[in-house]
Amino acid sequence: MKKYNIAIVGATGLVGQTFLKVLEEREFTIKNLYLMASSRSAGKIVSYRRQDIVVEELNENSFDKEIDLALFSAGGETSKKYSPIAASKGVVVIDNSSAFRMVEGVPLIVPEVNPEEAFNHNGIIANPNCSTIQSVVPLKILDEKYRIKRIVYSTYQAVSGSGFAGIKDLENGLKGMPPENYPHPIAGNCLPHIDVFLDNGNTKEEQKMIDETKKILNKDIRVTATCVRVPVLHSHSVSMNIEFEKEFDIEQVRKDLASVRGLVVEDNIKENIYPMAINSKGKDEVFVGRVRRDESVENGVNLWVVADNIRKGAVTNTVQIAELLVAGDKGGNL
Ligand code: A2P
Repeated sequence: MKKYNIAIVGATGLVGQTFLKVLEEREFTIKNLYLMASSRSAGKIVSYRRQDIVVEELNENSFDKEIDLALFSAGGETSKKYSPIAASKGVVVIDNSSAFRMVEGVPLIVPEVNPEEAFNHNGIIANPNCSTIQSVVPLKILDEKYRIKRIVYSTYQAVSGSGFAGIKDLENGLKGMPPENYPHPIAGNCLPHIDVFLDNGNTKEEQKMIDETKKILNKDIRVTATCVRVPVLHSHSVSMNIEFEKEFDIEQVRKDLASVRGLVVEDNIKENIYPMAINSKGKDEVFVGRVRRDESVENGVNLWVVADNIRKGAVTNTVQIAELLVAGDKGGNL
């Protein structure tokens, strides 16, 4: 089996560290692994499969060596500067930031939804926003069968979505210390404010969910979103209100959802069973429950969708894209 040279950019961050875990768990075939971060981390030793690897400072020459795939998670500015450099040297970049997601010609991939598009890249593939990834997994089959007209997302997002800095704000806040990362305390609070505010009043996170849903489903659906940071360490929860053009049977919708790869239906209200953040931590699947009719419109359903934002929302989805490329590699440069 062919082995690949892999670089992780942002290797010392929360997502970067989880990359190491998931690549090992999934036994990704690696020849050489390069770990890159800022000058602050250069020289640090990180172990992968009991092998010590020295973290390198990311710079213009980082991709001069033979690298097949670079998994980027070091923020938008780093991606904007270094992804094109990597791509120009023949490296295929899978980027976790929002820098390239809406750029035409850059595939935005969720392997359960639009795997075929991963191969139409020009060196950069984008990994979608964490809340968007878990939301579109149940949407594809519902759109195919009942044609989606409109979606209303309301999210309850974990602090790990802001990396180590978010976790620190919650942990310190619980001890009564003031926040450093968020504009207000997150302990005992809900912040309807994720990423920056835009001119239309949406936050950038909300706009990402709106725009990325349409790009991934390749359809001009009406979408609106309210994204909220909640004092939960791991896993995002999303309430989804969906309106269809066609009529549906709610039991059949439950069966449709159960047939989707990577999606687990947890829906037994008699036993108080529904997806919860604490249960999905560390898992790679997306969990859906509270499947019920919205009686206020003609053809509406409500869903409650939960997933580990660092695993399926970032790392696992990226590694699945890499696995797609490897499976389709015909001996060329992925
Ligand atoms: P470093 O640890 O050296 O700062 P998180 O947001 O989870 O804390 O992770 C951010 C990741 O992105 C870290 O690995 C961080 O490295 C890396 N990073 C941030 N800025 C840069 C930069 N300008 N160049 C390279 N890596 C960066």
